[in-house]
Amino acid sequence: MALMDRAAFIQGLPKAELHLHVEGSLEPAMMLDLAGRNGVELPYADIAEARAAYEFSNLQDFLDLYYAGTRVLCASSDFLALADACFRRVGADNVTHLECFVDPQAHLSRGVRFHDLMQGLKEAVRQAAGRGLEVSLILCFLRHLSEREAFRMLEDAAPYHGDFIGVGLDSSELGHPPSKFRHVFAAARELGFRLTAHAGEEGPAEYVWEALDVLGVERIDHGNRALEDDALVARLRRDQVPLTLCPLSNLKLRVVPDLRAHPLKRMLDLGLLVTVNSDDPAYFGGYVNDNFACVAQALDLGETELAAIAANSFKAAFQATGGPADPLPALGRPAAP
Ligand code: ADE
Ligand code: ZN
Repeated sequence: MALMDRAAFIQGLPKAELHLHVEGSLEPAMMLDLAGRNGVELPYADIAEARAAYEFSNLQDFLDLYYAGTRVLCASSDFLALADACFRRVGADNVTHLECFVDPQAHLSRGVRFHDLMQGLKEAVRQAAGRGLEVSLILCFLRHLSEREAFRMLEDAAPYHGDFIGVGLDSSELGHPPSKFRHVFAAARELGFRLTAHAGEEGPAEYVWEALDVLGVERIDHGNRALEDDALVARLRRDQVPLTLCPLSNLKLRVVPDLRAHPLKRMLDLGLLVTVNSDDPAYFGGYVNDNFACVAQALDLGETELAAIAANSFKAAFQATGGPADPLPALGRPAAP
């Protein structure tokens, strides 16, 4: 497919985005602006210096900059500005449903009040709905911290439990297996949250097994290294466990040496339910359409495969209306007046 045709085709596909960290959408311009307003020192003098620093050898390298960037987010208006810019950009890619990760522990530890974080995010969610983008929030536990701290955050979030559709697990993977969080995931399940976890990004296939069997998650964020274990592949195929893949993230964090080595096509051919997502778009060079375009080019994906991946995103969503998997239009829901 010619490049322009492919870009137009991808733009035309309705999509759900299921793996995006709102803090990872913080563009250098906004970071510098908020740093100035909030009196936060940054190691970059300008946008070019910030961008030049976005060269990563691994996940931890990136996380160090990601957490440094979050320090500029202080007031509810900062979180509103961040999320509003993010949701506008997501919507521009013909995404109709977003399930968006939030890392409250990165903010509470700096003295930000949960109330301020949520006031900003909820207002941005409300405004996005008015533009036709439905946003559900996912509360993430930072896995480099303890399970006790995860419980404390879940308790602090109690007034806002109704504002989150699920819980997730992110941050430094190696050395922090999913099983470390078995009790807090059990508590979250009891509270009615949907469950997901990052696993198999840098960590071994064993971490994907643990996420499934110990935490009981419904989908896996990344899951690249699942391909190292045939029995795990069979399990993921049998149960059609969604994998939220993030090609440009994998390239920037050197999970793959080159997008031509990305496992997406092998996974599709194995019958796995894969989706394409952007992870931390301000740091990795693109939102969901850029991820589709780059991986399609590298793996020579055709229209049928791209449409299947986009349709998968609605199948994999915790909650989505209006996408191709929504049964209501097929049942004859009356058109909106
Ligand atoms: N937090 C933000 N982006 C992440 C990623 N790619 N992996 C783990 N934690 C993250
Ligand atoms: Zn992620």
